[in-house]
Parts: sequence; structure tokens; C-alpha cells
Amino acid sequence: MALPENKAKQKKVQLQICGVSKDFDGTLAVNNVDLDIYQGEIFALLGASGCGKTTLLRMLAGFEKPSAGSILLEGEDMARLAPYQRPMNMMFQSYALFPHMTVENNIAFGLKQDRMPKQQIADKVAEVLGLVQMEAYAKRKPHQLSGGQQQRVALARSLAKSPKLLLLDEPMGALDKKLRTRMQLEIVNILEKVGVTCVMVTHDQEEAMTMADRVGIMNAGILSQVGSPMEVYERPNSRMTAEFIGSVNLFEGELVVDEVGYVEIASDSLESNIYIAHGIVGSEGMALAVAIRPEKINISRTEPAQAHNKARGVVEDIAYLGSHSVYHVRLPSGFKVLASVANSNRQIASDEQQRITWGDEVFVSWSDSCAVVLYS
Ligand SMILES: Nc1ncnc2c1ncn2[C@@H]1O[C@H](COP(=O)(O)OP(=O)(O)OP(=O)(O)O)[C@@H](O)[C@H]1O
Ligand SMILES: [Mg+2]
Repeated sequence: MALPENKAKQKKVQLQICGVSKDFDGTLAVNNVDLDIYQGEIFALLGASGCGKTTLLRMLAGFEKPSAGSILLEGEDMARLAPYQRPMNMMFQSYALFPHMTVENNIAFGLKQDRMPKQQIADKVAEVLGLVQMEAYAKRKPHQLSGGQQQRVALARSLAKSPKLLLLDEPMGALDKKLRTRMQLEIVNILEKVGVTCVMVTHDQEEAMTMADRVGIMNAGILSQVGSPMEVYERPNSRMTAEFIGSVNLFEGELVVDEVGYVEIASDSLESNIYIAHGIVGSEGMALAVAIRPEKINISRTEPAQAHNKARGVVEDIAYLGSHSVYHVRLPSGFKVLASVANSNRQIASDEQQRITWGDEVFVSWSDSCAVVLYS
């Protein structure tokens, strides 16, 4: 059976980044990145400050020349094209609007340079202003707009030339938290409406998870993991990714029982072995880490019936975060386990849980299948 048209489209590779590196006088800002971007997707590059996100984006846009590798858009090598010749548009963090020009002239500027006929320009400006719901502000200057409105104008300007690829560097960087959250969803809606492929850069993991179809985690110039937000959260492939995306309990340990159907890992942080109900790639004696998300940890006053994966501890701290609370439970080893409990479940949670408070002796426990084994 043929794939539905939109599904087939989604899987069409539009941009190929092949072995791309950037060496700044001996510093490898981007290190041998291989990545395919699909048509129409929103892809977010995520990583700590200085990991090479902007440098990679600038190479895509043509502002920076790769030291090695190639960038192909729809099969065409971009190497010989100057930034303005590339069917892409990059929106900068500062928006870079012309302060002396009205909103409509800001948007029309690039189209005039391309010698588009006047009427066509007027139509296009109206179209993109409508798209970002800024028709009423056409005659204003940037300083007469709020941060969110300026951002919408910048986005409209980026879309005016109908680029095949939109590059966004920290698009929400200048906005406050509340406006950021609203604009994230708004931008996704606009991009989906236009159907443009988008590579965006952010250091905000929540933003990446909210907006992107797939995320790429960068660490010191290396693209260390690529996947859907859920994949990278549920199946991180390294300690770095596990710790970077959300919070995590990371038990350093050693593989002590290695069977086909299960393994056991001994950790100095725990008195009994971690039991994992499936085989892993490894050999006895191997050092590895086990990652367990706080929401996978149960907390109770009485000892759970399960044979494995439980530990006694003392509640040292409780952070109330509105939708959920995070319990910090100190184990005899000194290790602090984070257990996240949804507050919406409070009413249906047992009375016992309600009563858990600072200084209480509790048990933390987790299932045999929720732990992720990390090798690097
Ligand atoms: N023009 C340049 N010359 C020399 N080194 C540079 C240049 N541009 C960037 N770098 C270095 O390359 C590395 C990656 O920088 P980049 O701006 O790509 O990081 P980033 O991931 O975008 O960080 P941030 O989140 O802070 O914006 C950094 O160590 C930076 O100092
Ligand atoms: Mg940057």
C-alpha cells in the first residue's frame, strides 16, 4: 500500500549535512556532523552554550565556510552559493529589523532587491503580515512594537521570499518566559501553515521539545543524538543527553550479572543490585550507568512487595512545582534520589502518600523495565 501523500512527503530528505566540520584556528567548533533534514519538518539543534549550534546554522546559511564536508539542499551542493543566492533565510536572535523603516518596508526590502514587481510585493507583504496577524501594524516602526510583535515581523520578513529552508537562531531569545511559551506554539502553527522546513537553534530544552518534530543534541561540536523529543527523553544514548534533557537519577555502576533475559548492576549508591528485565550489550565487570527519570520512581512509607529495585531513604526536601512535586530522598550511601509525584493524583493517591513529609523514612522503588543503561 502506498503511503498517504503527506506521510511520504514528510520522509523526503530535503537537506543533507555530510561530514561537516568547522575549525576555528585549532578549535573544532563543529565536528564531523552528518544529518538529514526532512521536508517540512521542524528540527531543533539543542546544546549547551558554545557547543557549536550557531556555527552549524551559519554554515547552512553560507555565512561561514565549512572546513570539511558538504551541504546539499534538494541534492544541490550549496558550497558555491553566497548567502543571498541560497533558497534559505536566517532569522537572527536580535531580529535585525531596520529601525528607520516601517513594518511593511522591512518586509518589502528583500523583495525590492529581487526586483519583484510592485503589485506582487504589495500582495506578498499583505499575505505574510496576515500570516503573523500583524496587518494592523504595517505602518509602524519597530520601536513602536512590543518584543513579540517585533518577532512576528521578523518572521514575516523571513518568510516573504518563500524560502525552502528557514533557519532560526534562538528565535525566542529576546522574549520573557510567558511570551516565549505562547510564541512557541504560534510559530509552529505558522510554519506548518506555510509548510516550510525549519532548522532552529535553542539552548532551552523545553522549547525544543515543544516546537520540534525531531531534536539533535550537540555536545562540544559533536551531534551526539538525534530523535523525536520522546525518543531522546525516554532513550537517551549517553550520560550527557540524559542529564541535559530533563532531570534524571544517574547511578554509576558495574555489570555484575549478565544473562540473556536480565542483567544486574551493582552501584555504590545502592545497597542492592539494580535489576533490569532484559539483556544488554556488555560483559561482566563493565562500567556503565543506569538512568531513571524522577517520574518513574515511586515513593511509599511501607516497603513495596517487589523483590528488586527498591531502597530505603529519608525525605530531605520537597519541591512543590505546581503540577508536580519533587521529593529528594537521601539514601544511606548519601546518594539523593529524585522522585516526581504528579499533584493531580493527590486526591486519588493513598492517604499515606499525602502524609509523606520532610524527615520521613520512605522507600523509593522502580519497575524492572524503566531504567535506561548508558555506556558513555
Ligand atoms: N568566528 C569565530 N572565531 C573563532 N571561534 C569561534 C567563532 N565563532 C564561534 N567560535 C567558537 O566556536 C565555538 C562554538 O560557538 P557557537 O557560537 O557555534 O556556539 P553556540 O552553541 O551557538 O553557543 P550559544 O548557545 O552560547 O549561542 C565556541 O567555542 C566559540 O567560541
Ligand atoms: Mg549561538
